[in-house]
Amino acid sequence: MKTFYWRVDAFQPDDRIMDRAGFIIRQGGLVAFPTETVYGLGADALNAAAVERIFTAKGRPADNPLIVHVRSIEQVYSLVAALPDRALKLARAFWPGPLTMVLPRSREVPDAVTAGLDTVAVRMPAHRVALALINAAGTPIAAPSANASGRPSPTTAEHVRQDLDGRIEAVIDAGPAPVGVESTVLDLTTAVPVILRPGGVTRRRLMELIGNVAVHPEKTEGPPRSPGMKYRHYAPGAPVILVEGASAALVRNKMRELAAGFAGRGMKVVILASSESAGYFRDYRCVTYGRHAEPATVAAGLYDALRRCDELAPDVIVAEGVEPGGMGTAVADRLRRAASEIIKVTR
Ligand code: TXA
Ligand code: MG
Repeated sequence: MKTFYWRVDAFQPDDRIMDRAGFIIRQGGLVAFPTETVYGLGADALNAAAVERIFTAKGRPADNPLIVHVRSIEQVYSLVAALPDRALKLARAFWPGPLTMVLPRSREVPDAVTAGLDTVAVRMPAHRVALALINAAGTPIAAPSANASGRPSPTTAEHVRQDLDGRIEAVIDAGPAPVGVESTVLDLTTAVPVILRPGGVTRRRLMELIGNVAVHPEKTEGPPRSPGMKYRHYAPGAPVILVEGASAALVRNKMRELAAGFAGRGMKVVILASSESAGYFRDYRCVTYGRHAEPATVAAGLYDALRRCDELAPDVIVAEGVEPGGMGTAVADRLRRAASEIIKVTR
């Protein structure tokens, strides 16, 4: 199949292009589109056959459910069995924005979307192009991140092309996704809501509005609450050794020691680090992900940096950790998922 690429303005997308894209969705086709977090791969959420094509195009396991994207709170009512007060409150406060809510599903939602769960994940993206697409399609849009399964999420149309060219009908390109990491996924079906995936809306901001919010532990007994959590995500081809520690100096020293050890054994080492630390790794290939002093730049740059590491075809990647807290929590989470080993240095 030949994939169409359409470039649009992020704030004033061309109506004719959006109409064509909406038509493809209505016909059961797949369109990749920008959101504020990452690029999504969209299909008509109410068309089971269209949704199944998403799983084929990505090579995604069928037991990993999709987020349904809406353009209004009204559109949520047909998708859920109930919209609790606290969900409505959250939607009013954070939508459009990077918050996904897991709610009891209605019968309208095909099993392919929810992977057979009795819940559905919904969010309203804060991106003009995404909202225009849902509008043009006239239906809610099911969309995972538009990467091949196991690859880092795409933050540009070029990333989507790398993974899905020839497998989907169209890609709408509106430049880089501004946030850069995926939405916060919040399970609202339990007495105390649980963050299943940290993201752009922080725990503190959620708690300010609805009181106590729990965090899903990284490793648990029994089946994972969010099926996506059991897969190793976002990972480059080479092993990633992630170094975390109490101070930047300790982390850099440990990274240098590890890198020297690998290089000494003839391995090709790539360093993944903050802009602040890059100068300490002049004797290695070094990819930077953003400035530690501004976690938002790390969020925006991380997935592109992981892809650039991959392109250098290293034997091993030695990565500098990020301090959790605020946006740092989401970034630290994604780095840990990309890691094959985490080393903590205390002295
Ligand atoms: O920012 C985002 O959320 C992006 C953009 C495109 O909106 N989408 C995204 O989708 O990251 P995806 O499919 O890559 O990640 C969705 C996550 C997965 O971990 C999945 O398991 C979880 O949400 N999820 C979806 N439906 C769920 C449900 N009913 N219950 C629990 N977890 C669910
Ligand atoms: Mg994904």
